[in-house]
Amino acid sequence: MSDIFDKIIDRKNTGSEKWDRCDQLFGGENLLPLWVADMDFRTPQEVIDTLTLKAAHGIFGYTSYRDSAYDSVINWFSRKHGWKIDREWILYSPGVVPALNLLVQAFTDLCDGVIIQRPVYHPFMKVIENNGRRILNNPLRQNSSGSYEIDFDHLREQAKKPAARMMLLCTPHNPVGRVWREDELKTIIGICSENNILLVSDEIHCDLTFNNHRHIPLHTIAGEFKDNIITCTAPSKTFNLAGVQISNIIISDQEKGKKFKNSLMKAGMLDPNSFAPEAMEAAYNYGEKWLEDLLSYIYGNFKWMKKFISSELTKAEVTELEGTYLAWVDFRKYNFNSKELDDLFTKKAGVAPNPGHIFGPEGDGFMRFNIACPRSVLEEGMNRIAQVFKNLK
Ligand SMILES: Cc1ncc(COP(=O)(O)O)c(C=O)c1O
Repeated sequence: MSDIFDKIIDRKNTGSEKWDRCDQLFGGENLLPLWVADMDFRTPQEVIDTLTLKAAHGIFGYTSYRDSAYDSVINWFSRKHGWKIDREWILYSPGVVPALNLLVQAFTDLCDGVIIQRPVYHPFMKVIENNGRRILNNPLRQNSSGSYEIDFDHLREQAKKPAARMMLLCTPHNPVGRVWREDELKTIIGICSENNILLVSDEIHCDLTFNNHRHIPLHTIAGEFKDNIITCTAPSKTFNLAGVQISNIIISDQEKGKKFKNSLMKAGMLDPNSFAPEAMEAAYNYGEKWLEDLLSYIYGNFKWMKKFISSELTKAEVTELEGTYLAWVDFRKYNFNSKELDDLFTKKAGVAPNPGHIFGPEGDGFMRFNIACPRSVLEEGMNRIAQVFKNLK
């Protein structure tokens, strides 16, 4: 199976954000892109076949979900995550980030506080600030083994603030790779419930977990608080469909669902493009085996990278990867400031991971590596980096 994922597919000049805009965005030449969260793998063959048939049909009129599209979402979450979703709870949005913007606009007012836990997926900050809301940060803490934990005392303090209205939870957490445990999720629910905070749970990475780490949909353990949870899901990370633009926002409370639907309507975002539901259906209905193979390949990449770093970049520390395909590596012991560290990667090594500081100042001194690429590409990137660090005085 690894030959599927070992295969190098040239993505240059395909309009790929990751490959074609990398040099321009990072300021380098022929950079090896290990940034932005899409994969260098082909989506499952069943998805390709379905989209090929759709293209051959040749008519691309206004589109809506068929019953089978809803069923594919319902069945996937029931089968994979033990979550029973009602069809009426599913609302289409072209992406999770557009949805987050609409949710913040619909359910908070100007200057309201929105809780996030940095370092975190950077658009969370933009979503809050671009809409004139305020960030209430609850920084994650690292324990003695380097693993990230939630500071519940501080979370409680933030949630008690009169301005606090919403929490954007990243679960599993990008970029630190944690899959939150049930006890952690229940504590978050408890704190939000005590303080009447609406919980928006971004679960886009829910299918990408490793070993015995299991994603728990927040809604399934929320008891009476479940109607105060809005869950963002999508097949895009799981099956490499980000450019197809489809996500499903799950809202069990009827009033909140109506409100969000109204926001989608006002934004003119009610209908998917002709290819999106077809791709989603094929992926959710036929992509399970492919996903299994993908996960084992990615974790193989992670193990290889961890071993390589421990022998070649001895001061760097790799955070354990419980979920996502984004490896979070601590370079602080090398004592570079963020500009120097960025330049080492882009100007000297010719490699472009995401610098940790974009996820908030808490990420300073870290790099986030997208390891969803053929092993040989990862090896090339890591060798380039090791070469540069070896030559440091
Ligand atoms: C936590 C998280 N949410 C949302 C997104 C992007 O979602 P979309 O492409 O559907 O807007 C990403 C992409 O990396 C992500 O990591």
